[in-house]
Amino acid sequence: MSGTAGTAPAAPRQGAAIADPVLRADGLDAGYLPGINILNNCSLEAGKGELVGIIGPNGAGKSTLLKSLFGLVNIRKGSVTLNGRDVTALKTNQLVREGVGFVPQTNNVFPSLSIEENLQMGLFLRPKQFAERIEEMWELFPMLADRRRQLAGSLSGGERQSVAMARALMMQPSVLLLDEPSAGLSPVRQDETFIRTRQINQTGVTIIMVEQNARRCLQICDRAYVLDQGTNAYEGPGRELANDPRVIELYLGTLAADVEGKARAAAQDAD
Ligand SMILES: Nc1ncnc2c1ncn2[C@@H]1O[C@H](COP(=O)(O)OP(=O)(O)OP(=O)(O)O)[C@@H](O)[C@H]1O
Ligand SMILES: [Mg+2]
Repeated sequence: MSGTAGTAPAAPRQGAAIADPVLRADGLDAGYLPGINILNNCSLEAGKGELVGIIGPNGAGKSTLLKSLFGLVNIRKGSVTLNGRDVTALKTNQLVREGVGFVPQTNNVFPSLSIEENLQMGLFLRPKQFAERIEEMWELFPMLADRRRQLAGSLSGGERQSVAMARALMMQPSVLLLDEPSAGLSPVRQDETFIRTRQINQTGVTIIMVEQNARRCLQICDRAYVLDQGTNAYEGPGRELANDPRVIELYLGTLAADVEGKARAAAQDAD
């Protein structure tokens, strides 16, 4: 790692509070089986309009964290606040009503329903707004508009991801939780997904995104959290974390190789 000497390491979690966070998780313990916590004192916050990334190794608890924020995993300790209000004990349908949207990592469409019906499901709490909301979704995802009657089960992975995202956006969430939106997509489709995620974020939707593609995630997010074994390891601005030698060493093996390669090339140029 000598090639990265001199890079200022990002600070470990300092608990620096964001003024008026849209969503704040404080000291969460959560898990599936009695007596076994997957999340251990895990905290996170997202300010209005932020794009926040979550990275970390397989099994670190990233999906569990998102599911806890969406009422799908039992929170045993700690609290979640949404726009300053305690929502720790709310159920998923109540969280949807309060403005939280979630796109899961897998099984994120109803395969036997058409694209249009999938989007309809996203708005079942406010059916009267369907006509207006769906027009907005067709504008955001024109490729779905052309195929609105096609069964979601016959779509490609990327198209399904778009359907799932559009369905979550039907309710105009104030915060959108995305679990690995680029998983299983070709590099070109991954880029499209990241660009679309940023576009949605720029319309004012706060986004918390778990990503396997850590390098790309850190490039586009405002801030990020690195989780390790269900707890916060590091956090900071995305670009800072991407250059933090400890993050590189722990989680971004391929990036480490790249950085060292570039450092070697720079040293050779200087010779
Ligand atoms: N439904 C479940 N019941 C019991 N244990 C579970 C369940 N879902 C996940 N786990 C366990 O929780 C831990 C964290 O899993 P989680 O899916 O949150 O990790 P992740 O960081 O999202 O991993 P990946 O990068 O592979 O998606 C793992 O050890 C996993 O086996
Ligand atoms: Mg996961």
